[in-house]
Amino acid sequence: MDKYVVEGGATLKGSVRVSGAKNSALKLMAASIMASEECVIRNVPDIADVRTMRELLVHMGLELEHESKTMRIVPSSNPRPEAPYEIVQKMRASIVVLGPILTRFGSAHVAMPGGCNIGSRQIDLHIKGLTEMGADISVLHGFIEAKAKRLKGARIYLELPSVGATENLLMAACMAKGTTIIENAAMEPEITDLAEFLLKLGARITGIGTHTLEIQGVDYLGSAEQTVIGDRVEGGTFLIAGAITRGEVKVEGLNPLHLDIVLEKMREAGCAIEVGDNWVRVSIPGELTGIEISTLPYPGFPTDLQPQMVALLSTAQGISFVTENIFDNRFMVVDELNRLGANIKTRNHHAIIHGVPRLSGAPVTATDLRAGAALVIAGLCAEGETVVHDIYHIDRGYECFEDKLRGVGAKIVRTS
Ligand code: EPZ
Repeated sequence: MDKYVVEGGATLKGSVRVSGAKNSALKLMAASIMASEECVIRNVPDIADVRTMRELLVHMGLELEHESKTMRIVPSSNPRPEAPYEIVQKMRASIVVLGPILTRFGSAHVAMPGGCNIGSRQIDLHIKGLTEMGADISVLHGFIEAKAKRLKGARIYLELPSVGATENLLMAACMAKGTTIIENAAMEPEITDLAEFLLKLGARITGIGTHTLEIQGVDYLGSAEQTVIGDRVEGGTFLIAGAITRGEVKVEGLNPLHLDIVLEKMREAGCAIEVGDNWVRVSIPGELTGIEISTLPYPGFPTDLQPQMVALLSTAQGISFVTENIFDNRFMVVDELNRLGANIKTRNHHAIIHGVPRLSGAPVTATDLRAGAALVIAGLCAEGETVVHDIYHIDRGYECFEDKLRGVGAKIVRTS
């Protein structure tokens, strides 16, 4: 099992280019299941989750090649409309193949996604929406068995703007018969990226980037070429790493608008932020002070940058107050940060952070992808050595993480 050994104290300086967004690339790959011709997806990061999704599509009979960030996907002449347990339990996001498989092949056999250590990750809204579109769905022996000769358009109201449910239903609606309206849809930039890919395939969608999506089903989806947007969560992670070391870091290759609220909150804490058309630079002119943050669906503060911000605020002056509204168990990083000398208390969905003058290096364990990144960030400014265990979590969503950090002066090595 690999681990990171981080030597604290370096001040990060320089530029880092983000990779393609994990949470977009995975969905474009899932959408290619509906394509009848070859698709090309560019700027696809070489990360574990992409390799898992690739394994799933190959299992289904599609042909894929992934050379230097360009992925070519050739449709299957003999498709297998199923997602086996061994693959789904590696990556919950596999559930987004359910909609594409069902709408394209009329039946789907998809393993229920396992639990997840940031909270219960239901899929009731996915199932409810597909049922409203006429699917006959049952869950038997841990598998979702779905059948529908042809899905039919429906008006679907999502009780909460679930990213995955929006994506599954959006894709399912593309080849359903008639019109589907999805109300209270999620609006994350990765969903806009997916919708634009679907338009290129021949889908008919309006309301992209709003809470109401309207889709006219079509009988045929052809081919598409698209470059995945820059990863806003990776970009935010590196900006916070620059800030916690009181350095100066520029992240390139992303749309700063996708980080609007994050940059606003970093400014509120005392960061100086400069923005270009595809880059953001952070520096720290004075002291960092505590702020309040509440995670919300986009364009609110992203839950995927909450652990990293908690790490940053644990070194700011004064008290910070963080509320996690998206997941019901996403403060597991707090116990590990406290091992590094942070002073954080959690109460249900709230974390109260008393800033400390310095953190001290210690062995810690990553519990999920973003918590792992947050622990590396904390280790960058902790006195002495921090060893982060279970970094396979980080490998799921960060491409060349230690190389990029070393590129801006971090002292970090990967050891087995
Ligand atoms: C996506 O997960 C992202 N993953 C997550 O990023 C991200 O944190 C999340 O959206 C929120 O932005 C991918 O895109 C692969 P949700 P998803 O459906 O689709 C509840 C990362 O680190 N819910 O919006 O699973 C659910 O329990 C990952 O890259 C239901 O109750 O998120 C959760 O509490 C972590 N019923 C909340 O909604 C449902 O049917 C948000 O879930 C669906 C969801």
